[in-house]
Amino acid sequence: MTTALITGANKGIGFEIARRLGERGITAIVGARDEERGRAAAERLGQPYVRLDVTDPGSAQDAAKWIEQAHGGLDILVNNAGITVWQDDDRPSATSADVLRQVYEVNVFGVVTVTNAMLPLLRRSPAGRIVNMSSELGSIAMAIDPESPFWPFNLMAYNSSKAALNMITVSYAKELWDTPIKVNAANPGYCATDLNGHTGHRTAEQGAEIAVRLATLDGEGPSGAYLQDEGTLPW
Ligand SMILES: NC(=O)c1ccc[n+]([C@@H]2O[C@H](COP(=O)([O-])OP(=O)(O)OC[C@H]3O[C@@H](n4cnc5c(N)ncnc54)[C@H](OP(=O)(O)O)[C@@H]3O)[C@@H](O)[C@H]2O)c1
Repeated sequence: MTTALITGANKGIGFEIARRLGERGITAIVGARDEERGRAAAERLGQPYVRLDVTDPGSAQDAAKWIEQAHGGLDILVNNAGITVWQDDDRPSATSADVLRQVYEVNVFGVVTVTNAMLPLLRRSPAGRIVNMSSELGSIAMAIDPESPFWPFNLMAYNSSKAALNMITVSYAKELWDTPIKVNAANPGYCATDLNGHTGHRTAEQGAEIAVRLATLDGEGPSGAYLQDEGTLPW
């Protein structure tokens, strides 16, 4: 039985990733920081719940212990939990280091905390997969291209957190290059979720597609890649 952990799976794209992995017969453990919201989502999906606040190393270690005891191991980790901090004035010159710290706690440090806690389990899997939910806004190549549709979205905290996550993806992929574990970054596209006040033009289900694909890659699939439905993105 293949077992997956999806962080921030109580709603949005994470919920849809858990649902879609579950449809493939994978045990899709719903990770969520709030027990009530997490249990409610897990119940709707008919999947297990584990409490997991990605900013809390103790919570990540407890989740890893529980997964090992209850499920015997872990094959897939989807680092999906992510936040943005809304600012009335979001120019870089009006963005404090504290705003960056808040966003990085979840989008960057949280991914490292959870990944390091789960890696001992993933290393024992015959086909470990790590998917980091990045964003097209994390592409430095597109951010600096005046012709790119992302040129106007100069959200320093969020965008730089996803650019950092992209390098973190590559860093883990390189350490794990000679193992069966594949580590990739996924861009879900602009999806209508709470993250953006439901302004996105894609559904959360559509956003889940690329993460599901990368979570279930066969042995020939890439590692250290930055992908969306249509293919590779420029870093
Ligand atoms: N929506 C888009 O257009 C879009 C585009 C590109 C990338 N993404 C990325 O896709 C991922 C999912 O976003 P979404 O749009 O589905 O957002 P969402 O609906 O706001 O869901 C975010 C999830 O992250 C969880 N979370 C936040 N802080 C957490 C923490 N400290 N510990 C554990 N979970 C935490 C939230 O839990 P609570 O309910 O407890 O807050 C929620 O379950 C994010 O990484 C986001 O950056 C989204």
